[in-house]
Amino acid sequence: MLVLGIETTCDETAAAVVERQADGSARILSNIVRSQTEEHAPYGGVVPEIAARAHVELLDGIVASAMKESGVGFPRLSGVAAAAGPGLIGGVIVGLTTAKAIAFVHRTPLIAVNHLEAHALTPRLTDALEFPYCLFLASGGHTQIVAVLGVGNYVRLGTTVDDAMGEAFDKVAKMLGLPYPGGPQVERAAASGDATRFNFPRPMLGRPDANFSLSGLKTAVRNEIGRINPLEPQDISDLCAGFQAAVLEATADRLGVGLKLFQERFGTPRALVAAGGVAANQAIRAALESVAARAQTALIIPPPALCTDNGAMIAWAGAERLVAGLTDTLETPPRARWLLDASAQAPAGFANTRAGF
Ligand code: KG4
Ligand code: ZN
Repeated sequence: MLVLGIETTCDETAAAVVERQADGSARILSNIVRSQTEEHAPYGGVVPEIAARAHVELLDGIVASAMKESGVGFPRLSGVAAAAGPGLIGGVIVGLTTAKAIAFVHRTPLIAVNHLEAHALTPRLTDALEFPYCLFLASGGHTQIVAVLGVGNYVRLGTTVDDAMGEAFDKVAKMLGLPYPGGPQVERAAASGDATRFNFPRPMLGRPDANFSLSGLKTAVRNEIGRINPLEPQDISDLCAGFQAAVLEATADRLGVGLKLFQERFGTPRALVAAGGVAANQAIRAALESVAARAQTALIIPPPALCTDNGAMIAWAGAERLVAGLTDTLETPPRARWLLDASAQAPAGFANTRAGF
């Protein structure tokens, strides 16, 4: 089975062709990602209108390159998948409309994929992981702990009540005058910092639910910055180290609870899986190792290129859905918001417009 996947929900324009064998194994035939970081960098964050226009300009060429590199012609495709949400609506419209046009012209099934589902199913593409497993997804738009029980069967165990984790890294970087995207910059600065100089709060520590909160921590960092004048490079490093240490401790605590909730409801997970841009952070990876070890489960972190947004994960989720007989009509709408777990509610105090996707 050969599926073309298209991703345009945020600031990556991406397309890929993935082959799924009858035994469930996968081969990525092409995977082309064009990040729009340069276009958004002057503004210190993703500008939705700029992203939508860039997707329009880039997508046709990227689909053509992905098809060419794969050596697969359109008539051989078993289906075309696009991320139909959640995300920035302008970009989602561009990707989904393109997929619909390809599906219509080449008379091939359309699969409208939930972007979060694609992240959730990635370890089955990279590691042939069996269900059930526990996913920790932390990116610029999402922070969630999800029980992945089967294709289309997801239970959200925890989410952020305010900022997404990557968003918090980006905002701290911005406050410190570090360039966008801020996550890698904060990690780099933290490496030469003293994590004990500032005693930042560890949000939600010890709470019985598995939710996250990051805006109070961000405010604490802002308050410290306000007290230091002038801000020297060593101050920046110490602030980054203190912030990152607080995020790590809170993450380990929240995931510990998430894994306990998983165990109670669904038994032992086959693995703890981390995905999203924040999973590229080496310090967080190390913290996750010990969380997984404590829960006596394996830790799987897909390679960075498949942790961050890409077309291969959309193509793969499309293939998994196609095998399950789940296809969509050309009337399928693009969706800015789309919860992975249909029964999940926004947590109390929920106020964020991005993180609740
Ligand atoms: O998954 P991703 O590429 O895109 C989406 O947001 O969907 O994640 C990007 C986010 C940004 O907020 C970025 O600052 C954060 O992931 N990030 C990191 C690191 N690398 C990327 N955060 C902390 N440490 C990193 N090394
Ligand atoms: Zn993503």
